[in-house]
Amino acid sequence: MGFCPQCRTEGAVREVSCVPPSGAVPVRLGEALASEAQRIPVGLGEVDRVLGGGLVPGSVVLVGGEPGVGKSTLLLQAAASVAARVDVLVVTAEESLPQVALRARRLGIDAERLLVLAETEVEAIVAVIEVHRPAVVVIDSIQTVSANTVAGGAGGPAQLREATDRLVAVSKRLGVATLLVGHVTKDGLLAGPKQLEHVVDVVLSFDGDAELGVRLLRSLKNRHGSTHQIGLFEMTEGGLVEVADPGSLLIDERTLPAAGTVLFPAVHGRRPLLVEIQALVARSTTPQPRRSVKGLEAARVHQILAVLERHAGLALHQHDVYVSVVGGIQVRDPAADLPVALAVASSLAEASLGGAAAWGEVDLTGRVRSDPHADRRLAEVARLGVSTTIHAGEGDLDGITGGLAAAGLHSPHQSRNWGVSAVV
Ligand code: TYD
Ligand code: MG
Repeated sequence: MGFCPQCRTEGAVREVSCVPPSGAVPVRLGEALASEAQRIPVGLGEVDRVLGGGLVPGSVVLVGGEPGVGKSTLLLQAAASVAARVDVLVVTAEESLPQVALRARRLGIDAERLLVLAETEVEAIVAVIEVHRPAVVVIDSIQTVSANTVAGGAGGPAQLREATDRLVAVSKRLGVATLLVGHVTKDGLLAGPKQLEHVVDVVLSFDGDAELGVRLLRSLKNRHGSTHQIGLFEMTEGGLVEVADPGSLLIDERTLPAAGTVLFPAVHGRRPLLVEIQALVARSTTPQPRRSVKGLEAARVHQILAVLERHAGLALHQHDVYVSVVGGIQVRDPAADLPVALAVASSLAEASLGGAAAWGEVDLTGRVRSDPHADRRLAEVARLGVSTTIHAGEGDLDGITGGLAAAGLHSPHQSRNWGVSAVV
């Protein structure tokens, strides 16, 4: 332009090049592989399991969860644990130093290599990282960190993006493993732009059930590992305690004998996890019956309802249907189809299944697939003392009506697909 558009001074605008002076440098794949091998174990088995073996230097992990679920507690415990091996910086942008100290005392934490910084400006945080060169940085929370260079308040989309970009850049440049806390709104979305999830390497969600006191750490995205693992914790007076063997922790013994409840030994990663699926079917008063799904994929449940209607003759179009998983867990195992179908049919018939466990993927023709994890599921339910199981036998695909019959539930279409379709 030749002059400044604001003060009109001639020659006040200077041309700068955006190409980095050093240029891009390729590395050998072998070197990249070597850096992957340098994972830093957090030292909390459940956290390491979800991360795929520990933190990768230079990577950024976003930990999302609703306010109050225990994100600050989890990350302070993780920071203290990893500080046994490397230098760790915890940046508290939400709580004051005395508040963090109080929490640390309550958790019995006193780590020599743990630095705490109360700061909200990303420029200042980056400067501290550059000076102290910690191996691991925790930012609690990303929504309360602001970037001076961007207009708008902390937590706004532009601020959030800029602060995250700065922290990702410094992490990659210095090889720091960074953990960002992010608040999630009630409907499960990260407050702020969804793009945040694309900028980071790993997205974990921390959620749980207030009633049971169980907390679950799940991986929604992991550039360095599988997303099938889950970590289990219990919130206690002395902080989060890892649960290595969930057993029947996620089962509510009080509701189990009721109609509409079925046990499901879900397989998460390598670990079977016994959960309780509940359904409530109630006569609808509206032309558009209500469908509510919690803890399962809604489209999948709608498909099961259609299969039950079409192939088992259940008049679900006149009923509101609520389906949920107890314990706040998100079930992604496709074998949840049959237990969902049985819970719905059981509620409709007002007939208890007596604490039976079930599994099996149901296809659109109403057949139940035999299951590759049957042995592990059988072993787990047997270990936990469940005596009745309903699932497809080996080999052939079996009809859903047979599954209902095995559970003692009447189907108007009993003549179809009838046979030895379930192992009881
Ligand atoms: P917090 O980690 O502050 O949640 P977040 O950072 O996700 O908002 O912890 C939330 C709750 O956990 C808090 O209400 C009290 C409870 N809590 C315990 O039960 N035991 C403990 O040792 C601690 C530190 C917290
Ligand atoms: Mg917090």
